[in-house]
Amino acid sequence: MPTALVTGITGQDGSYLAELLLEQGYKVIGMVRRTSTINFDRIRHIQEQVEIVQGDLLDQMSLISILQEYRPSEVYNLAAQSFVPTSFTQPVLTGEFTALGVTRVLDAIRIVDPAIRFYQASSSEMFGKVQEVPQRESTPFYPRSPYGVAKLYGHWITVNYRESYDIYACSGILFNHESPRRGLEFVTHKITNAVARIKLGLESELRLGNLEARRDWGYAPDYVRAMWLMLQQDAPDDYVVATGETHSVQEFVEEAFGYVDMDWREFVVQDPKFYRPAEVDLLVGDPSKAGKHLGWEPSVSFRELVRLMVQADLEAWERRLKQAAALTA
Ligand code: NAP
Ligand code: GDD
Repeated sequence: MPTALVTGITGQDGSYLAELLLEQGYKVIGMVRRTSTINFDRIRHIQEQVEIVQGDLLDQMSLISILQEYRPSEVYNLAAQSFVPTSFTQPVLTGEFTALGVTRVLDAIRIVDPAIRFYQASSSEMFGKVQEVPQRESTPFYPRSPYGVAKLYGHWITVNYRESYDIYACSGILFNHESPRRGLEFVTHKITNAVARIKLGLESELRLGNLEARRDWGYAPDYVRAMWLMLQQDAPDDYVVATGETHSVQEFVEEAFGYVDMDWREFVVQDPKFYRPAEVDLLVGDPSKAGKHLGWEPSVSFRELVRLMVQADLEAWERRLKQAAALTA
């Protein structure tokens, strides 16, 4: 039974990747940082099947000890400070987690067992002010946030350890991917959650920032499959993972409100508070290399994605309302 270590297992991607690895017969070790309250909502359903171990990207020794104790053959580094606006308010901390954290994991691998295969969660945010449309592996980078800059460091240190120490290290340049498990501060889930609450009479408006930004949005379970595939090849490489389609935030809003037969204009308020110091205006990826080499392709369309997220939020809020009613009955 192969063993895989997943950092960031409590996050959106970590939870889906852990499910996939368990299906593939792996022993899954999930690294979590110490918190005063347990934060296992996304992995509760598989908690008995994975081994949870405490460690932190800020702490080199914890990473070395985990590798020494569990001897994984694959490490998926998904942990990061992943919210772009927070990277503007906490740029140094973002650099510590999202940039230097990658070096700490790679150095632990180099010291403990350079045969470990390594996946780094790189991001389309590295393309930032895009130099080419669509963006592919060879497109020059131009990050527009401290998060994007930190991810770019993580990307290049992954390439550097591959070239310097012959480590099987891959950088997956993943475009935005969403699901009902997405954090509520990200725009897609913020929208679908608000649509459900407005539909059920729990809220009356949705405050958003830039509606014109365009993103290439895919479905998270498809994207974790690409991560796994990258570590199953004969040689390590870097891949863009995307749908190849781009839509504006406004199109997402229209589709989400449309699904519940409501007119978004009656509820959406633009609020300068949600604008960023520097914006990424357009992302659209070319996933043809991943298609050709990994046999990867997305399975969920933009429309299906919006609908499945709204539907999941409607069901979740209806469930909560029923539970609250039962308690007061
Ligand atoms: P997420 O939901 O925000 O999850 C981030 C995970 O990192 C959480 O488990 C978090 O733990 C953990 N973490 C943060 N700081 C840590 C530290 N110092 N030590 C240990 N763990 C730490 O992110 P996601 O959407 O699943 O994304 C996974 C990765 O892919 C991230 O690196 C993200 O930047 C990258 N990425 C995401 C997308 C996307 O569209 N989702 C696209 C490209 C790249 P807590 O639960 O304790 O907070
Ligand atoms: N979060 C948020 N909230 N974004 C808003 C809002 C709002 O109220 N209104 C408009 N937006 C716009 C943002 O300005 C941005 O252009 C777009 O919606 C998407 O924002 P997010 O959903 O926060 O995602 P992101 O694109 O900044 O970053 C995500 O994708 C990256 C990959 O490209 C994150 O998952 C990153 O971790 C990931 O690397």
